[in-house]
Amino acid sequence: MKTIIEPFKIKSIEPIKFTTELQRESILRKAFFNPFLIPADDVLIDLLTDSGTSAMSAKQWAGIMDGDESYAGSKSFYRFEKTVRDLTGFHHIIPTHQGRAAEKILFSIVGGKGKWIPNNTHFDTTRANVEYSGAEAVDLLNETGKHPELKADFKGNMDTAALEKFIQDKGAEHIPLCLITVTNNSGGGQPVSMENIRQTKKILQHYHIPLFLDACRFAENAYFIKLREKGYADKSVREIAREMFSLADGCTMSAKKDALANIGGFLAMNDSALASKSRNLLIVTEGFPTYGGLAGRDLEAIAQGLEEILDEDYLRYRIRSVEYLGDKFSAMGIPIVQPPGGHAIYIDAKRLLQHIPPHEYPGQAVVSEFFRLGGIRCVEIGSVMFGKYDTTTGSLISPPMELVRLAIPRRVYTQSHMDYVIEVAENVFKNRTNLKGFRIIEEAPMLRHFTAKFENLV
Ligand code: F0G
Repeated sequence: MKTIIEPFKIKSIEPIKFTTELQRESILRKAFFNPFLIPADDVLIDLLTDSGTSAMSAKQWAGIMDGDESYAGSKSFYRFEKTVRDLTGFHHIIPTHQGRAAEKILFSIVGGKGKWIPNNTHFDTTRANVEYSGAEAVDLLNETGKHPELKADFKGNMDTAALEKFIQDKGAEHIPLCLITVTNNSGGGQPVSMENIRQTKKILQHYHIPLFLDACRFAENAYFIKLREKGYADKSVREIAREMFSLADGCTMSAKKDALANIGGFLAMNDSALASKSRNLLIVTEGFPTYGGLAGRDLEAIAQGLEEILDEDYLRYRIRSVEYLGDKFSAMGIPIVQPPGGHAIYIDAKRLLQHIPPHEYPGQAVVSEFFRLGGIRCVEIGSVMFGKYDTTTGSLISPPMELVRLAIPRRVYTQSHMDYVIEVAENVFKNRTNLKGFRIIEEAPMLRHFTAKFENLV
């Protein structure tokens, strides 16, 4: 069969609101052209993020009713702990209210001034939490990952030679741990190979540096390994995921992605001393270690979601539906990060809008046009999100890529929604030479993309 259908049927629906182009222009102006400031009710197709936006299954909803809300020792915690432990093999499982809370706890303990944290590419909250602790976050992505148009199987891989050199330069004693983000969200949702995780681990082991996975999209990564890496075609995704975790000493996880939950996360590790410090901090900032900032019902939904995410019919549909969107974009000439990633399509705004320089935010122009023409909400991952000002000259230092991410929520939209997105993209493409850049008129000192206000350049 050529058509890979959604491997579920719909039991409960949410209406979405249609607007006119005129209405959307006014909505955009009111939101100062920042998609984070648009009320969700005014959005037709919401591709802002795949985080916390999954549709839960009937069994997850049943788990919600079954949640045990005891303050200490809830049965929902024990189910959650067993599920995560069986999957990851880590001994200490610490629930948090979402991924960044796990990051905050981890880096409050291991970070600090004079420390360095390498990663293939830090996600923005991870970078922010590392930097907030006083440590420095360093991205060591392999060369192929830096070229959006290049097609390669594992563009999320760590540059292991650069990692080894980095450790020798800085000194292992200043590197409390190393992260690998699977899949590499900020680098286009690209997977990391098992071989690369193994190599990274080997180098780190030599210097006694622990390896942590940023495991938000571990199942999508594991499925890519099954599809693309030699020796894995006949292994189950669960086995592959287990092997990925077995190479690491711990992980941070946002359950809002590959646990198919609307909230939640965890920090997991084998090191008992680190776990003990983490739990002490958890009690101060999140909650008692058997709920950690979540309700018992959330722990149930996560445990169930972690079972469902490993269903290979689901993963086949998931990866194929993202690829479908990417293939159609490419066919009409829209430059995207190749090949399509696990959870999103990333438009290369630098190539699409060559007349708009990075300091006029070409990605923001694409985001704004998708909403104006079709009520589709997506997000810039470029100079708005990662741009920094030179402390002496005040000029903008841009990241290497100007991307726009269309993230696909899990199990939410059908193929006809995607076909509509493709039609709108066609119109964005046709109108590309008329698009203008933007100026920022208000911004916060950290994570400015969430609240920045923009003005259209004329
Ligand atoms: N790490 C990665 C790779 C992520 O993509 C995210 C969140 C986090 C950590 C933080 O998790 O949101 O639960 O605190 N990414 C979302 C996104 C927000 O839209 O990509 P969180």
